Amino acid sequence: MTTRRLVISRSAVLVGAASTGLLRPSSARAQSGRVRVGLMLPYTGTYAQLGVAIENGVRMAIDQQGGLLGGRAIEWFKVDDESEPGKGVENASKLVQRDKVDVLIGTVHSGVQMGIQKVARDTGVLNLIPNAGVHAATRALCCANVFRTSFSNAQPTLALGKAMVDRGHRRAVWITWKYAAGDEAFEGFKQSYTAAGGSIVKELGLPFPNVEFQALLTEIAALKPDAVACFFAGGGAAKFIRDYVAAGLKNKIALYGSGFLTEGMLDAAGPAAEGIITTMHYSDSLDTPRNKQFRLEYAKTFRSQPDVYAVQGYDTGLLLVQGANAVKGDLSAKPALYKALEAAVIDSPRGKWRMSRAHNPVQDIYLRRVENGENKVIRAGGHGRATRSAGHARPAPWLRHCFARAS
Ligand code: PHB
Repeated sequence: MTTRRLVISRSAVLVGAASTGLLRPSSARAQSGRVRVGLMLPYTGTYAQLGVAIENGVRMAIDQQGGLLGGRAIEWFKVDDESEPGKGVENASKLVQRDKVDVLIGTVHSGVQMGIQKVARDTGVLNLIPNAGVHAATRALCCANVFRTSFSNAQPTLALGKAMVDRGHRRAVWITWKYAAGDEAFEGFKQSYTAAGGSIVKELGLPFPNVEFQALLTEIAALKPDAVACFFAGGGAAKFIRDYVAAGLKNKIALYGSGFLTEGMLDAAGPAAEGIITTMHYSDSLDTPRNKQFRLEYAKTFRSQPDVYAVQGYDTGLLLVQGANAVKGDLSAKPALYKALEAAVIDSPRGKWRMSRAHNPVQDIYLRRVENGENKVIRAGGHGRATRSAGHARPAPWLRHCFARAS
């Protein structure tokens, strides 16, 4: 589809949806009173820390911009989604139907996001995704009112395969939690690793959020690959790293991962994490005034070090402020709001980025190594930049219908 046709279909949809009232859930409240902001994040379970970091980031960005959205104060609503996909629709509906939020910020877990996605499509509520990378959100089920500020699941691993082969690791085992985040991370890994000449010896998995890794680590030891690549995150990632060392594999089989493996977990994993190489759209050590200032401010405010989740939350806050300011706080002015969100340039600690046409960040992916308890950019080859990525390697066929059913 040409750009022109895309633009026409997008605005036609917006006009159509507006005339049916689908885009007016908050028009009665607009411009007066407080903006109702819903946070649907995990505050318990293996991803609890991720939810907290995201909320911290969102609040910090908005506070830094004066604490208002387009001149209006904020009323916050919170739901703990427990990373439980079975409750996704119910929890999102609580925020949209009961609390009547103007914007729903959430979530972390790809399966839970599928519930939010349904509610967002059914009601037209603005949804900003601060983490969940599920491909459908910006592909098959993408829509005008959903914007992602994080990544798509294959985005980091599309940069991983070549980096491993470049280091001489040609036979790899892949291991992950078996759900969309792990399976789609594998897609990116498989594509990049095999294209670079690597071969995947075996694909291993266990259900989310199971952390009984022992039997699988024994299998890896028997397979004797050159390297292991994985997707794990949150509390489970720290346990995987510690178990990997305890199984005696660390000095025998190089461990690589999608960068979530070493995000926010370096204190918990301790020395076991040293030397792990990962690919990610952020690195603690990015040597820019923007990142340094962000890290300082975050540490001062929350008495903890920020990670990629804090950055994604922060960028979500920046995006929301830009959108709300463009419509002077009237979040029911949907076409103007979406236009502003689509045009936004986010001056992020990860580096400046903007939305792809399907509402996913186009961003740099960095190659990092854990050194002295920090994710450091590997400086070889310029800026350690592994690739600039929109989250997909080929032209995006899903854009054809992307906005055709937006509501
Ligand atoms: C996801 O489920 O999409 C997900 C969860 C945690 C991460 C990354 C992706 O760190």
